[in-house]
Amino acid sequence: MDRGEELRQAVDLLLRGDLVGIPTETVYGLAGDAANAQAVAKIFDLKGRPKGHPLIVHIHAASKMEAWARDLPPQAWTLAQTFWPGPLTLIVKRSSRVLDEVTGGQDTVGLRVPSHPLTLALLEDFSKQGSGAVAAPSANRFGKTSPTRAEHVRAEFGEALAMVLDGGACGVGIESTIVDLSGKVGSGQVRILRPGMIEAAAIAQTLGMPVEDLYAQADAVKVAAPGTLSAHYAPKTPLRWVSSAELERIQEQGVAAKVGLLSWRRHNFAGFSPFYAGSDPEHYAQQLYALLREVDQAGLSQLWVETLPPDPRWDAIRDRLNRAIASHS
Ligand code: TXA
Ligand code: MG
Repeated sequence: MDRGEELRQAVDLLLRGDLVGIPTETVYGLAGDAANAQAVAKIFDLKGRPKGHPLIVHIHAASKMEAWARDLPPQAWTLAQTFWPGPLTLIVKRSSRVLDEVTGGQDTVGLRVPSHPLTLALLEDFSKQGSGAVAAPSANRFGKTSPTRAEHVRAEFGEALAMVLDGGACGVGIESTIVDLSGKVGSGQVRILRPGMIEAAAIAQTLGMPVEDLYAQADAVKVAAPGTLSAHYAPKTPLRWVSSAELERIQEQGVAAKVGLLSWRRHNFAGFSPFYAGSDPEHYAQQLYALLREVDQAGLSQLWVETLPPDPRWDAIRDRLNRAIASHS
């Protein structure tokens, strides 16, 4: 099937209230017409997601924001112009058009223009015949690792999902940065709700104002206390952080078989199954979820994760791994 035919089929499915797996630059999404309550209900059912957990609405241009939001602060336009299409979600006050089912009844909505060309084309075509907006969570079952390749989505949902648009491996690899602009932005209430590869510092610099960043903690290693994070992004293999000091000790003593080591440095430790993710955060993020899936395939008893550099550029990755680890503790 050629791309044009594939897009037509995808639009038809959306118009009928069915779901489509879509590529984005962050992770694959499980998309349904944002203006169709039945389609949105199918998303919650298929994903096994608790009701009331809001979905992001994806649109193809910043100019469409006004259809889905009201009282947009100037900061929303500034961020949209700077970072869209791209891995940033804006939480703003919703318009009357937004369904309660999408926002979990909240008065706000998450909006994003993703940068994957295939999905932008789909959204644009869909806007000519339908609402032009899809509600799309990451295309994984609730609490599991997000998919970064079409085959991950197929493996997750199989026949239950009529179509997955294959856009190759996601370039960013972890979910968008979420910025909350629904409060009193003029008096400084801009909050990062989820860290992503667009850093808090870049948001603050673009806006010329401070942003509240819950992830900018002072300690060097930034390991969260177990249990303080909601379980998420979880592979099946139990995993834990391992510090450089521990790694040195272990190198001398050796390890039991069947332990994987996910690292940002190349190590030559005997006994480990190595999973090298890259020494810069962009590369590591891009590889992370595919590697966690490989770890699950490898039948390891445990995965050890080398602690990450304290630099804030690693914060979003640290956040995802902290949550994955919390889900096993
Ligand atoms: O990169 C991404 O954002 C991906 C791709 C597919 O776009 N989507 C994604 O969706 O990660 P999901 O559903 O897995 O995560 C969306 C997050 C949830 O934590 C949800 O609580 C939050 O966005 N969210 C959505 N709407 C919100 C709202 N109105 N207020 C606060 N948080 C919201
Ligand atoms: Mg998700």
